[in-house]
Amino acid sequence: MRGVVLAALLLLPPPGATNCSGCHAAGSGNVAINGRDAGELAGLMNSYRSGALASTAMGRLMKGLLPADIDAIAAWVSVQK
Ligand code: HEC
Repeated sequence: MRGVVLAALLLLPPPGATNCSGCHAAGSGNVAINGRDAGELAGLMNSYRSGALASTAMGRLMKGLLPADIDAIAAWVSVQK
């Protein structure tokens, strides 16, 4: 059952997740994020949010998200191709 719920969660983009591809699509000039490890993505996203990692765009974007949103988006992005 838990696996079914998890699979459903991974299929539906969480709020905010579809914005990422606008900047991170292949050929966008920005670093690719799809299919990367969820823990690594969440770590980077949280570092932008806290300011530990300097950024032009990501810090402002991540400050608008809660840590739970970041985990959900990272999990979703990690299974996108
Ligand atoms: C307005 C364009 C824009 C949007 C929208 C955007 N990003 Fe980014 N992203 C960037 C830029 C530019 C960088 C490089 C750091 C910086 O200067 O902000 C970056 C860096 C990253 C990195 C670091 C990658 C690495 O290997 O160093 C991750 C992870 C990331 N973004 C994830 C996301 C996710 C997840 C979303 C959607 C919630 C998202 N981004 C939305 C522009 C964007």
